[in-house]
Amino acid sequence: MTILQRVYAKQSRIFYTAGPLEILDVPPPPGCAFREFTAEDFRAGAIFLERDRMAKFARRLAEGHRCFGHVDAGGEVASYLWYTRCGVAVPWALHIPLHLAAGEAYIWDCRTKADMRGRGLYPSGLQNLRKSAGSHGVSRLYIDCEPDNEASIRGIERAGLAAFHRMDACRLGFLRFIRSPGGLPHSARSGIWPGQLLKQAKTNN
Ligand SMILES: CC(C)(COP(=O)(O)OP(=O)(O)OC[C@H]1O[C@@H](n2cnc3c(N)ncnc32)[C@H](O)[C@@H]1OP(=O)(O)O)[C@@H](O)C(=O)NCCC(=O)NCCS
Repeated sequence: MTILQRVYAKQSRIFYTAGPLEILDVPPPPGCAFREFTAEDFRAGAIFLERDRMAKFARRLAEGHRCFGHVDAGGEVASYLWYTRCGVAVPWALHIPLHLAAGEAYIWDCRTKADMRGRGLYPSGLQNLRKSAGSHGVSRLYIDCEPDNEASIRGIERAGLAAFHRMDACRLGFLRFIRSPGGLPHSARSGIWPGQLLKQAKTNN
């Protein structure tokens, strides 16, 4: 990280949504199975690269987040997606908190192992989470990604989620700013509510 990056950083994100959530029958790609991950998966999975991954898993679980994904025929973790329900503040871009209302869920921090990419694991995982969310009373699902992440955008759109808002987050020293076309009522300090962004997007259209 350069000195400039320590002082200044910027991230743009596009928000996508799906809802009301229909129950989809989504078979996993051949040879793969979709399930929730445990601490043991985190300990063994080569996909979980970070040195502090066990602490991260425990912390996220304690905060109410859950991790799902595919394992391949040999039981190796091939993809993962983090999933969150209402009442949990997610550390969004540049550690700005993201809040969910009742009946909402958010998917974040997703990855497919490099040698398993391009086989549809990501859209399959997203659709499986839609299915599971829908059957657990969630009526709206959100995800966001960087505007130049073509692979992610293609997977999200293939899973049937639609783009509704773009937002720029910026860090200058200890300060955080959010720039949103249309002057939406969000401050970096109190965090963002995707449900409000969606409401505003609908009002504008
Ligand atoms: C984004 C990501 C999760 C997609 O996972 P995936 O399981 O490969 O998803 P898909 O199989 O649907 O492929 C999606 C797109 O990736 C691209 N792709 C295909 N094969 C690829 C490969 N071998 N390597 C990289 N990208 C590939 C294609 O554009 C594909 O779309 P297409 O099939 O319509 O041409 C994965 O690329 C990844 O882990 N990236 C790094 C982390 C990341 O960006 N996470 C998303 C944050 S929101």
